[in-house]
Amino acid sequence: GQYQIAVVVGSLRRDSFNRKLADALIKLAPPEFTFKHLNIGDLPLYNQDDDENQAESVKRLKAEIAGAQGLLFVTPEYNRSMPGVLKNALDHASRPYGQNAWAGKPGGVIGASIGSIGTAIAQQHLRNSLAYLDVPTLGQPEAFIHVKEGLFDKDGNIGNEDSRKFLQNWMNRYVDWVKRHAG
Ligand code: FNR
Repeated sequence: GQYQIAVVVGSLRRDSFNRKLADALIKLAPPEFTFKHLNIGDLPLYNQDDDENQAESVKRLKAEIAGAQGLLFVTPEYNRSMPGVLKNALDHASRPYGQNAWAGKPGGVIGASIGSIGTAIAQQHLRNSLAYLDVPTLGQPEAFIHVKEGLFDKDGNIGNEDSRKFLQNWMNRYVDWVKRHAG
């Protein structure tokens, strides 16, 4: 069958390394997997008062999640946690109570940082929320990508052999995970 994956990048930065990582990863996936970036940059700040009257951007986010068979989170670490924009998106699509759009969608978590242990804590915090949101999340292999010169080549592929092999293995495991857990 075909698998549509909703990609959530935790950075809104124009030249985001995490967006580049997401796009390079997507190229390592098999043809039966297609990927769509979710736009989380136009969501309002979450306010519980609006649960019964969600903004169009929130409804769109929830519909795109509902239409996907899997989730791919690619996030930076901000101040030893996930960025607020990502948490905001998690909160929006989890509501109103009982209508959590994330539930049951198999997920993968990965991230890139300019710091050497970067994204480990952000990923762990994200995993905590995903567990509560009932997202079966790939446990291994973990991947904490340290951004260095040459990580991406001029075509947006992974530029060095070791990293490419590592990330190809990660993608293979992610693909197996989605196939096993997609409804
Ligand atoms: C950072 N950065 C960062 N890096 C890290 O490894 N751990 C951290 O806790 C933080 N904290 C942090 C807070 C804020 C507000 C910013 C803007 C940045 C650095 C971060 O890894 C770097 O900016 C990346 O380039 C962010 O990812 P994108 O935007 O390139 O995808």
